[in-house]
Amino acid sequence: MLYSQVQEYYIPSDMTLDQTEIKRLIGKEAAQLVKTGMVVGLGSGTTATFFIESLVKQCQEEGLEIQVVSSSTKSLSLAQAGGIPTLDPQEVTKVDIVIDGADEVNPQGQMIKGGGGALTREKIIASMGKQMIVIVDESKVVDHLGAFGLPIEFLEVGVASTIAKLKALSYRGKIRTNNEGSYYRTDNKNLIFDIDHPKQFLDPKKDHQQIITIPGVLETGLFFDLPVKVLVGYADGTVKFREE
Ligand code: A5P
Repeated sequence: MLYSQVQEYYIPSDMTLDQTEIKRLIGKEAAQLVKTGMVVGLGSGTTATFFIESLVKQCQEEGLEIQVVSSSTKSLSLAQAGGIPTLDPQEVTKVDIVIDGADEVNPQGQMIKGGGGALTREKIIASMGKQMIVIVDESKVVDHLGAFGLPIEFLEVGVASTIAKLKALSYRGKIRTNNEGSYYRTDNKNLIFDIDHPKQFLDPKKDHQQIITIPGVLETGLFFDLPVKVLVGYADGTVKFREE
């Protein structure tokens, strides 16, 4: 089956890889899981970008034939530039495999995502997946979610009221901005609020439920109840599935 096809492999020296190198390695390994005929959900972020680049290479050089549905305009552009046939997310209901990064993943396979701002589309694509492969370097494997912070996507309309309601529930943080100070906009033209307090989400479903009921909040970066397998990359060059 799918998972047995992933081999552990080692960098043939004592060198220690940095995070970017680990991400590249995981992306390459994850691309090996994709087989001709599959409809593939593409994640977003730097690890997902390495995965998509490897996927493009496999399509161009090894004759891999797939269709993809993307969770961000950037991932869509990468796939299109590489000549991979893309499907419109508005028309897709099921994908064979979703491959995406995460900011944190706990032992239950629950995650924080949205560091790159694509959480809402990522969650929609993840919900279509018969299986989801989460590709992370070892620093993102945690016991409890929260140290990264929790991104939420929300509408600009009513921003002061939305943030006051979050604060009333003891969620504090900042609206994400670009370098020059303007509001960061998601692909959906909405805003991101990065919750940095509390620092731990011991019951992610409960936190998600509390936050999502606030009018104006579209999605939280708490992901759970997904058919997840976690592919972890280590500084020694090992890439392997975490034991579930
Ligand atoms: C994008 O919105 C995110 O959910 C990413 O998947 C997550 O932030 C991991 O990103 P990196 O692979 O860039 O670390």
